[in-house]
Amino acid sequence: MTSESGYFTESLSDKVVTARNAAAQDPRLKQVMEVITRKLHEAVKEIEPTEAEWFRAIMFLTETGHTCTDWRQEFILLSDVLGVSMLVDAINNRKPSGASESTVLGPFHVADAPELPMGADICLDQKGDPMLVHGRILDTQGNPIAGAKIDVWQANDEGFYDVQQKGLQPDFNLRGVFRTGADGSYWFKGVKPKFYPIPDDGPVGKLLAALGRHPFRPAHLHFIIEAEGHARLVTHIFDPDDPYIASDAVFGVKESLMAEFKPVFDPAKTKAAGFTSPYFDTEFDFVLAPA
Ligand code: BEZ
Ligand code: FE
Repeated sequence: MTSESGYFTESLSDKVVTARNAAAQDPRLKQVMEVITRKLHEAVKEIEPTEAEWFRAIMFLTETGHTCTDWRQEFILLSDVLGVSMLVDAINNRKPSGASESTVLGPFHVADAPELPMGADICLDQKGDPMLVHGRILDTQGNPIAGAKIDVWQANDEGFYDVQQKGLQPDFNLRGVFRTGADGSYWFKGVKPKFYPIPDDGPVGKLLAALGRHPFRPAHLHFIIEAEGHARLVTHIFDPDDPYIASDAVFGVKESLMAEFKPVFDPAKTKAAGFTSPYFDTEFDFVLAPA
C-alpha cells in the first residue's frame, strides 16, 4: 500500500497525511505542515504514548488555552520555557559583529509608556534600591546615534511589573521612553532589579515543577531601542551576580548582555547623581545594527 492510496498505515502515517494536503494554495503553509507532520509523527512513533498519555497531552494544551486571557498568553509562556521563543528570536535577529544582541520581548511591554526627560526617575513609588542606568547608543562604527528612542521597563523590587499589580503600583511605574541627544548618551533612574518568577500558577508552571525546573528569571531591565536607518533592538541587560543567571526559565540570558550593578557609597558622587542615599551605578552601551 502506498501513501497515494489515501489509506492510513502506521509505517506511512506522515506521508498519508501530507499527501492529503497536496492541493494547499499557500506553499509556505504546505511546507510548514509537511515538516510539522513529519516531525510530530516521528515523535509519536518514538514515544509510543498510551491513549491515556495522549489524552493528558491534549488536556494540557486545552488548559493552556483556557488560561489565556486578554492580558495572559499561556501559549507564549509555553514557547518561552521550551526555548522556542529564543530560537525564533535568534533566527530573525542575526546581528553583524559588534552589534548588541537581542533577547525575548516578554509579555509585560506596554505600547504607550510616557516619554520622559533624560535623567528622569522611572520609579514612581520610591520603593527599592535606587539605581542610575547610563550609557550610549552607538552604530557599529562607534558613532553616537542622536534621536534614538529608548523604551525601558522593569519589575519592582518585589519582582512585579505595574501591569501585574494594577491599583497597588502607580500606572506606568518603572517604565518610560527617552530620546538621545547629539552625543547619543542616555541616563535615567530606576531601582535595582531582582529575580522574579514568570507567571507559574497555570499549566506551564505545573509543567516546570513536574520537570524539576524553577520558574525564575534573573534580574534584568528590558529595552526596545529604535533609530532611523538602524535595526530595531529588543533586548535586556542582566545582573551577572544574580543566583538564576545561568538558569533563566526562558533562556533569555546572553553573555554579551551582562551589566555591572556597582554600589556607590561616596556621598559626593551620590549627591552629584541626585540621590540622597547610596545607589547602584549601571553603565551599558547599546550598538545598533544597520537597518
Ligand atoms: C519578562 O522578562 O518580562 C518575561 C519574559 C518571558 C516570559 C515571562 C516574562
Ligand atoms: Fe522581565
